[in-house]
Amino acid sequence: MNYSLAPMEGITGHTFRRVHAECFGALDCYYTPFLAPPRVGNSFGGKAFKEIDPLNNEGLNVIPQLLTKNADEFVWAASELAELGYREVNLNLGCPSGTVVSKGKGSGFLRNLDELEVFLRDVCDRSPLPVSVKTRLGLEDDAEYERILELYCSLPLAELIVHPRVQKDRYQGKPRWEPYGETLARAPFPVAYNGDIFGTEDMDALMEAHPRTRHVMLGRGLLANPALARMLAGGPAASADELRQFHDKLYAAYLDEIGGNAVFRMKEWWFYAKCAFTDPMAVHRAVRKARKVEEYEAAVERAFHDEPLAPVARFHG
Ligand SMILES: Cc1cc2nc3c(=O)[nH]c(=O)nc-3n(C[C@H](O)[C@H](O)[C@H](O)COP(=O)(O)O)c2cc1C
Repeated sequence: MNYSLAPMEGITGHTFRRVHAECFGALDCYYTPFLAPPRVGNSFGGKAFKEIDPLNNEGLNVIPQLLTKNADEFVWAASELAELGYREVNLNLGCPSGTVVSKGKGSGFLRNLDELEVFLRDVCDRSPLPVSVKTRLGLEDDAEYERILELYCSLPLAELIVHPRVQKDRYQGKPRWEPYGETLARAPFPVAYNGDIFGTEDMDALMEAHPRTRHVMLGRGLLANPALARMLAGGPAASADELRQFHDKLYAAYLDEIGGNAVFRMKEWWFYAKCAFTDPMAVHRAVRKARKVEEYEAAVERAFHDEPLAPVARFHG
């Protein structure tokens, strides 16, 4: 089984990937949070370049993800990525955010299948790197997926990662396993599953329903339980020491990278990490008010000292 880390804007960037791999071992693969391609003729700059700078991703199998509906920019970005040594590029057709969808990008691109077909045929033809896609089932209704899947199946994709919800679900409700199973059965390329795998019992159920699963992408479940991939492979849960060390290394790395803003970055992480404790709300209350580095450090000290760890960390909303 291959396990990958989901792209999560603002959370699973290069610093998180590196520190997580150091503490819990590298996953088989990592997807960058979505990047906007540079204009044709320009290079990736600023924050986007840091994300894909090979020096920030050493030793990890990273696949950059692009969010665009402009084929020339996609192909240009893919050629820049190829020069940096990347071996695959992923297209985001899943982002449900209103601002992205209203521009016809992310899952918004699924609204216009004729335009999407022209785009995908063009980029599959011209991209110097194999193209994989991360998709939803549609915008409003699962029935939209029939045509979408037919389109994907007619293309030479490197892989299709299915998050089996529609745009209007955002991240609520149960992911639909049937359309995922249909994808496994029909697709002439590798297929990956993503959505609500938060513990070993979820993985067991997925494997029972869809034993041909070969690649599972983990998102919120791994943020709530950083040992999730290790546990899915039969290993132990994270100990209190491991969790504390992971926190400390991540925080130190963010302090190095962005100074006092590390506090806000860490609070994003705590939204998920609080689930590792018996009383997540107590942990939430402890860290949420911290603004300054000293306040944050004192709050974290209190949380780790006072709050017992849950027997098994599990993401829950
Ligand atoms: C805060 C946040 C940011 C995300 N950013 C991205 C992104 O940049 N690209 C993407 O394809 N999906 C993104 N996603 C979706 C995740 O990759 C994943 O599909 C989703 O969390 C469902 O998987 P999970 O149930 O394992 O968490 C994001 C999700 C969240 C909650």
